[in-house]
Amino acid sequence: PLRIAVLASGRGSNLAALIAARDAGTLPVEFTLVASDKASAGALRLAEAAGIPTLALSPRSYPDRRAFDLDLFARIADSGAELLVLAGFMRIVDGAALEPWAGRIVNIHPSLLPKYRGLHTHRRALEAGDAEHGASVHFVTAELDGGPVIAQARISIESGDDEDTLAERLLPLEHRLLPAVIALIAAQRLALGPNGITLDGSPLTRPLNL
Ligand code: GAR
Repeated sequence: PLRIAVLASGRGSNLAALIAARDAGTLPVEFTLVASDKASAGALRLAEAAGIPTLALSPRSYPDRRAFDLDLFARIADSGAELLVLAGFMRIVDGAALEPWAGRIVNIHPSLLPKYRGLHTHRRALEAGDAEHGASVHFVTAELDGGPVIAQARISIESGDDEDTLAERLLPLEHRLLPAVIALIAAQRLALGPNGITLDGSPLTRPLNL
């Protein structure tokens, strides 16, 4: 199994989906650590219940962002993780901390990237009058939500939708998307190389629709 660590700031429903897929036998991974910048994160409680080691670090205990990120990512490396999954991690990560993880860190983001990097993605899709919305899983680089996109899931925006209805319809798709991408990486079918993403040895020219 691929050794993975998960970073999450909140509720942890995407972590729960990963654990469920592991338990169902569709995701051959071993969880080395679930870490958070919030001691109260639901994700930490889910991990404890699943018998996964947890770590909570407070950014306020560090002089600056870089010091926090370097310590956090060093501890994640110490856990033995080969891949780091950001599942609702709500902080920007310093480039120096990301460097050792190049090609080994993925994030799920609730928009059809490159649209709507950053926060309030549902609101921004509505305000733009988009007909479609979705979620993306991408390799993480120092550019916020700007790394190569691996796969996306789409929903159509209906009249009457608001931020809550969009989030509610999108979430179950996120819960399929993230484990599906990690499964491809675990099977060594998908990777980030010097010339971009490859799937089964061929360049991925556009994000997968999962
Ligand atoms: C998910 O919708 C995820 O896409 C989003 O946070 C939510 C976490 O939910 N991520 C971001 O906005 C990253 N900037 P969860 O804690 O229930 O998995």
